[in-house]
Amino acid sequence: MKVLFNESIGKDELVLVPMFKKELINEDVCGINDELKFLIDSKIFEGKKGQTHYIHNENNYFLIGLDEKEKLTDKSFRNLFAEGYKKSKKLGFKSYSAMCFKQFKIETMVETLILADYEFEIYKTSDKKEPVESINIIKEGLVDEAKVNEHIILAEATIEARNLSNEPANVLTPTELALRATELGAMYGFEVEVLDKKQIEEENMKAFLSVAKASQQEPRFIIMRYQGNPDSKDRLGFVGKGLTYDSGGLSIKSTDSMVTMKDDMSGASAVVGMMVSLGRNKTKVNVTAVVAACENLISGSGYKPGDIIGSRGGKSIFVANTDAEGRLTLVDAIDYIIDKEMVTSVVDIATLTGSAVHALGTTTTAMISNNENLINTMKIASELADEGVWELPIFDDNREQVKHHDADLKNIGGKPGTITAAVFLENFVKDIPWVHLDIAGTSWTDKESGYLSKGATGVGVRLLYHYIKEMI
Ligand code: BES
Ligand code: ZN
Ligand code: ZN
Repeated sequence: MKVLFNESIGKDELVLVPMFKKELINEDVCGINDELKFLIDSKIFEGKKGQTHYIHNENNYFLIGLDEKEKLTDKSFRNLFAEGYKKSKKLGFKSYSAMCFKQFKIETMVETLILADYEFEIYKTSDKKEPVESINIIKEGLVDEAKVNEHIILAEATIEARNLSNEPANVLTPTELALRATELGAMYGFEVEVLDKKQIEEENMKAFLSVAKASQQEPRFIIMRYQGNPDSKDRLGFVGKGLTYDSGGLSIKSTDSMVTMKDDMSGASAVVGMMVSLGRNKTKVNVTAVVAACENLISGSGYKPGDIIGSRGGKSIFVANTDAEGRLTLVDAIDYIIDKEMVTSVVDIATLTGSAVHALGTTTTAMISNNENLINTMKIASELADEGVWELPIFDDNREQVKHHDADLKNIGGKPGTITAAVFLENFVKDIPWVHLDIAGTSWTDKESGYLSKGATGVGVRLLYHYIKEMI
């Protein structure tokens, strides 16, 4: 979708007009106030939440109700405007204009429209939705082009992430994920190094390799480096969970819960999307992101419940459940990034536990950390990105839960599952400032809502980008 600014309105396009409840447009730039007065008086359209109305005179207008001005928040604007836009798409217009009155932030409007326009349709051969070609934003006053561009990039990088997570696992294997990251790096200005199985063995990533063992698809360890500030020694580290498929292994999942497990690499999608947004925005910061990519399958060569395995960090791990595989891949990646990439802090992002859905639902990401400063920064980023995060604690009792009698650790620690999973990771972060984000609830949606379409949400891309900008 091409974004244009302040072009004149054409007869063949649809003009989106956001409207507050029972209010006329202050400066009647569209010349529709008479019509609006009639609609409001006759209660046909009053600008209520979720209400929309199509006006067809010499031009075409689509009114989107935002309810009362005083109640509008950034979040409700995004959701109501996106839902209105999606409804309007049924009218089949190829080009659009959108009135961005002074109450609205142009960058938020543009970001919302691009995100709301997304559909994953590359595998459909029929019933495809006609793409919208362009949208012309009509803004009173000056447009801060740099800011708008930054947000266009953020929306497009989020779409890159959604595309990766929506790709089925038969297409997006660990090798393919590494290739896509490499291509994106070459296009947008970050370096990508990929370790193959032999090199992963040389790195001693025994926990990661144990998870990968049952699959005929070889694992890949993907290292992405972005050098945006050569004058600084600081380097922020990120780790994304990269299970391109999770069957549960011998601790097999139910058929129903296996169906969406292609998205178990959404942490990887988030860090790849984040790298794209840094590269395209030329952000002044140094960042390394890593992904231990593999599949968790079942075969005679797989790891088994009851096995005791090693790890890059040297700790031995009792495998109590082969479905708690994400943490095994993450701890080797965390150990690597701290030991080899000299990062000054680490954020890991992972579809780690079903318990995160029980604790916080599908619109809030669980956050656990050892550092107050990073928590506060992530909370600010959460507001800026309109991506909910909520902090959960670790208590000393929880630390006991992952200890094992025959090995240093065991890979499950019982309830509360999201916290004991984080405790397992904590054993490998040493004393580095660290944040863990569990996106098992937020990476995927079964229903259309706001600017999300069914499937992968691309959660994390904008959150991590804003976090990085707040860290500089
Ligand atoms: N990939 C899953 C977590 C998950 C569940 C992601 C639902 C998205 C939606 C993870 O590998 C897993 O299976 N975790 C287990 C851990 C358990 C065995 C301790 C879980 O949450 O059930
Ligand atoms: Zn699992
Ligand atoms: Zn998993």
